[in-house]
Amino acid sequence: MNSKNILITGATDGIGLETARKLKSLGHNIIIHGRSAEKLEKVAAELNAKSFKADLSKLLEVGEMAKSILEEYEQIDVLINNAGVLKTSHPRTEDGYDVRYVVNTFAPYLLTKKLLPLLKNGRVINLSSAAQASVDFNALLGKVEMSDFEAYAQSKLAITMWSRYMADQVGSDGPVIIAVNPASLLGTKMVKEGFNTPGNDINIGVNILTSLSLEAKHAEHSGEYYDNDNKRYAPPQADGLDDEKAKQIVELIEGII
Ligand SMILES: NC(=O)c1ccc[n+]([C@@H]2O[C@H](COP(=O)([O-])OP(=O)(O)OC[C@H]3O[C@@H](n4cnc5c(N)ncnc54)[C@H](OP(=O)(O)O)[C@@H]3O)[C@@H](O)[C@H]2O)c1
Repeated sequence: MNSKNILITGATDGIGLETARKLKSLGHNIIIHGRSAEKLEKVAAELNAKSFKADLSKLLEVGEMAKSILEEYEQIDVLINNAGVLKTSHPRTEDGYDVRYVVNTFAPYLLTKKLLPLLKNGRVINLSSAAQASVDFNALLGKVEMSDFEAYAQSKLAITMWSRYMADQVGSDGPVIIAVNPASLLGTKMVKEGFNTPGNDINIGVNILTSLSLEAKHAEHSGEYYDNDNKRYAPPQADGLDDEKAKQIVELIEGII
């Protein structure tokens, strides 16, 4: 079997951790990211994985992590931008942005952009959600207070939109880039804390991330959004196909990073 280098962010818990375990069991070389040294060490030992630590709410740390990865690897076959946040006691970063936008949208954009030279023939799988709301530019810029859910839903449409935009920009010279809703209410810490429910079988999410990472049939869907609640590629929320708005969002993200 062709063993792939697969980098997973937020691989210390939830869907990321279980996907790392699954892909390792299939014989792939797993590279994990986390923010907690203790959790990272434990998972790295279990999976015999190289690990990188960064708090994704701090873009400087994201840049430093990308630099270390660029120094260490010549090729990454799959990048799964899985880390994400919904509820938090600290909704603002030191720079005044909403932490959902920074962790769920800006950090994966910056990481992907920096790692593009390693990802040439690879894949980028971006975790979106069924929760998607129109991006308010002022909210993206940290100038508007939002509820946890509104911030999360905007950040998830924004990552879906930059995925499509970047896929178009890199074309056949770059990786396949796919945004995915792994299915709603999977039983992770995010869902238990956010919705007060034990949630559904997490393997529903693990299986789609595994398929998107490895199966040939997805290669023709770069730029698209896979909705695992309905088990098919589907249009995102209406704004998600607005090329002009996507361009504006990417310009704002570029300004911030
Ligand atoms: N569960 C669902 O039903 C569902 C549905 C749609 C989309 N999603 C998406 O799926 C992805 C995984 O979510 P999950 O449900 O598995 O949630 P989870 O169990 O809370 O895991 C989230 C992961 O992200 C990491 N993370 C959070 N904030 C971070 C930060 N500032 N810096 C670095 N890492 C950070 C966490 O690190 P720690 O281990 O240190 O906490 C953890 O490893 C997320 O993008 C989420 O939005 C989930």
